[in-house]
Order: sequence, then C-alpha cells, then structure tokens
Amino acid sequence: MGWNSWNTFATEINEKLILETADLLSKNGMKEVGYTYLVLDDAWMAHDRDAQGELIADPVKFPHGMKYVSDYVHSKGLKFGLYNCAGTKTCAGYPGTRGYEYQDARFYASQGVDYLKFDWCNTDGINAREAYKTMSKALKQAGRPVIFSLCEWGNNKPWEWADSVGHLWRTTGDISCIFEGLKNNGTWSANGVMRNVDLQADLRKYAGPGHWNDPDMLEVGNGLKAGEDRAHFSLWCMMAAPLILGNDLRKMSPESYAILTNKDAISIDQDSLGIQGYRKLIQDSVEIWIKPLKNKELAICFLNRSLKPVKLNYNWLKNPVQDDLSKTQVNFNQSVYSITSIWQKMNKMNTKKPFNAVLPPHDVILLKLKQ
Ligand code: GLA
Repeated sequence: MGWNSWNTFATEINEKLILETADLLSKNGMKEVGYTYLVLDDAWMAHDRDAQGELIADPVKFPHGMKYVSDYVHSKGLKFGLYNCAGTKTCAGYPGTRGYEYQDARFYASQGVDYLKFDWCNTDGINAREAYKTMSKALKQAGRPVIFSLCEWGNNKPWEWADSVGHLWRTTGDISCIFEGLKNNGTWSANGVMRNVDLQADLRKYAGPGHWNDPDMLEVGNGLKAGEDRAHFSLWCMMAAPLILGNDLRKMSPESYAILTNKDAISIDQDSLGIQGYRKLIQDSVEIWIKPLKNKELAICFLNRSLKPVKLNYNWLKNPVQDDLSKTQVNFNQSVYSITSIWQKMNKMNTKKPFNAVLPPHDVILLKLKQ
C-alpha cells in the first residue's frame, strides 16, 4: 500500500509536491491504515546520466537531490520508491536502465530506495524474463531490501515466471479514470477500471503472499462518481491487489478519503491468507465476487456494471461457497453467518434469510460474513 505520482501528476513532479505528500500521508491517518510506500514515477531524472553513468535527479524539480527527498520521506516513517525502465529510455524519454542494471541498483541502495517500479518501454529485442531477472539480481546484490514491481503490462505473462523475480507484476495496460471501456490517448489507449478487473479476474491462482497480481494504481478521487470509486476500490480489495493511491492528497475530498481509508475494506484486501477473490457469477450486468478470508470469514461483493439500479434477492441457502483453489466450502444450511455491510448502513442480517437490497448503478454492495 502506498502512493504513486503518475496517475495525477504524470511528469509534473517536484520536491515540494513529494514533501507535502509525505507530510499528508504521515499526518492525515493514511499511513496508519497502511499506505506506507511513497513512490516517484517517471520523470524524476535529469535527461542525461552524469560522466560516470550515474543517474541524477532533475536538478530543477529536485534541487536538493534525491537522497534529501528519501531522507525526508523516511523521517516521516514512510518508505521511499523510485521508477525506471528495462529499456534504453523510460516511457517519458528519460534514461533507461538497459546496460546499467548493477550500477543503477547500487545507486538506489545509496539513495535509500525501498521500492522500485520497473517499466517496459523501449525494449525492442529484449527478453522480458531475463531483463527482469537481471534487475532483480542486481537489486539483491546491492544489498538493500527492495520491493520490486514489474510493470510490463502483462505482455509476457509475468504471473507465470515472476514470483521468484519480484513482488508484484502488472497484469494489464495502463488504467485511466473512466469506469468502463477504453480511453483513446491518440497513439495508444488506456483501460477503464473495469477492463483491468476483467483482465486480472482469471489470474487468481498466480497471486499469493509476497507475489501479487497488480491491476495498476488507483484512480479513486480522480473524477469517477462516488459509486464508481467505491466499486473500483472494493474490486481491488476483492482481488487482493496492491493499493497504490493515485490522487492528489492535497485536494482530496472527504468522500474519497472515507473510501480510501475504510478499515473494513482494507482488511479484506490485506487479509493474511492473500487469496485473490473470484467472480462467482455474471448475470446480465451484475457480478458476484467472493474472497475467502482468515478465520473462515468471507467477503462478498455485488457489483452493478449497468446504469440502472438492480434489485437483489440472494438466497444464501441455495448458494453454497465452493472454491477449489483455496479449498473453501461453506454450506449456509449448516452454518449461519452474520453479515456486515461495509459501505451502506444496513440492519443486522444473517445468512438464514435471503439478502434483499437495491444495488445502485455503477456501484457495489460489499459484505463481510462471519460465523
Ligand atoms: C507506463 C506505465 C505507467 C507509468 C508510465 C510512465 O505507461 O505503465 O504506470 O509508469 O509508463 O511513463
């Protein structure tokens, strides 16, 4: 869990923004609920390496250098992350790491870097598996423990080979702040939030503690409707996805803050079993997602992808939970569960009676079930 500069600021980052963000994370309660990694994405560097081939922070954006920023972030009890790319240049055209893996890894260690996001632009002719393995080895050799985030958009199926290489891997192309469909960016298109859900849904068997499927950073607070923000956040929690904030914390609305810091939702995401939830049912525009949790608890998420409200009538007794992957079986005829609604206020409920509710358009009802 953390914050990354890209979704809101793209290349417009600087020392003031990062220090202010560190202040906010550490003061506004977000660090306490788990957002601890502060990661600078693309464009933190100068356009050229120095004469020794070292990366240098952009001297205008970061006048005191990167160690100063890193020390500041650490002084707030947070962890510090940087970005680079396996290719010759980053996606925004800054110096890439190709051929400099060991040198760059030593540089990150010297700057106190705790997290590296490693992208996949300008990599013609490079073998992804080898490139990421090389960087992973270089980071280990540099000696400072680092979370290694692979960002090759799922092109080379990293879920099949990266669990010993890094800690998380993107399963999709870039997210954008629309709920469904694709956003045309001219030469390329970015995915709506739900498209990234669809792309990751079937990859659950590859995720688990220490090696996660990553459907990209959060767009909560960046302009979706409140229900869409709830749905986006809930689905990330149901998929045990990394929760990397992508909004401007200095301008966050109370509604966005409430969603992003909801402890019950976060506890579903961070549950120690680390099981990625599954889509049990798609019926017209409604989906039902289930995530087995520790202590035989369950999270259930009803999602409405249409623009019309939908009446739900869900009979638990006729819908046992059967998940072969996590070996979870629950027959509600045999065990009664109490139900808590995470976003909407609802009366006390249990699984003896069918669950009746109206599911608003582009929104979710997220439930936690306890025995
Ligand atoms: C790629 C990545 C994004 C972001 C940009 C930066 O598109 O997928 O997450 O890091 O590059 O240029």
